Amino acid sequence: MKYPSSIVILTGAGISAESGISTFRDPDGIWSKIDYREVATPQGFAANPLRVHEFYNWRRRNVATVEPNAAHFALGRLEQEFRGEFLLVTQNVDSLHERAGSKRLIHMHGQHDKALCTACEQRCAWHGEMSLSSQCPHCGSVGYMRPDVVWFGEMPYEMDRIYTALTACDLFISIGTSGNVYPAAGFVREARKAGARTVELNLEPSEGAAHFNEAEHGPATSIVPAYVERMLRT
Ligand code: NAD
Ligand code: APR
Ligand code: ZN
Repeated sequence: MKYPSSIVILTGAGISAESGISTFRDPDGIWSKIDYREVATPQGFAANPLRVHEFYNWRRRNVATVEPNAAHFALGRLEQEFRGEFLLVTQNVDSLHERAGSKRLIHMHGQHDKALCTACEQRCAWHGEMSLSSQCPHCGSVGYMRPDVVWFGEMPYEMDRIYTALTACDLFISIGTSGNVYPAAGFVREARKAGARTVELNLEPSEGAAHFNEAEHGPATSIVPAYVERMLRT
């Protein structure tokens, strides 16, 4: 394996699966039980904000009980020891990458332990329950708080920074994502256009599998640490 000079990594729900957080589109995934239009779209929030608060309160409670796994820690180690440019982009709204030591990290779909006030458009950290009586710590408005999560139809965060990194990288690694949702599903093609080597580390081939130069299939907690070890030994 040639030692890269600049790495971009994309992660999805699959990297958190072995920590105990359900993915979205696996057979028993979240979207097989809950209609995503009710809890992951602006229209769903407008129609029934309480339902959306309950969904993200449930997800915050679930994530509070789980730990980062060996795959999260392997990426934290890679960021520490890699001698080059490094960026980790996650579609996940959980905080397991931070808790495993990742710092050069973008949450392109936002974070469920942050809140956005729709009255003053300011963000704040948010742990615990959120409801219609939640008050904005900035402007004091009550009933205007929403999870700071990017829903279907909304623009993800920091796309300029992400595309700049994709066009400059020589290694793109995709971990634990089904390649169903854009723009994240298109990152592999952007990286390839820029001449990067592209690697997929996933339980099974994703929708975008054909665009990767290399692939390893298996549970993230075994294939990701092994991949990082081999790279750092190069
Ligand atoms: P999209 O086209 O990116 O994705 C739509 C996705 O909805 C499809 O890929 C499919 O996987 C999923 N879908 C469709 N029907 C479904 C069903 N019945 N059950 C479960 N999943 C179903 O979505 P879009 O409307 O074009 O929005 C794209 C934007 O929304 C992007 O910016 C993306 O980053 C953002 N986004 C955020 C979230 C989130 O919850 N944070 C989820 C998806 C998309
Ligand atoms: N190890 C590695 N990969 C795994 C594991 C595991 N233990 N378990 C599942 N996977 C893989 C699955 O094979 C699948 O390809 O992780 C992927 C999970 O795909 P999705 O459930 O579609 O999750 P994701 O790709 O992150 O969804 C993208 O859609 O609904 C939105 O906001 C949501 O950000 C999410 C986006
Ligand atoms: Zn406010």
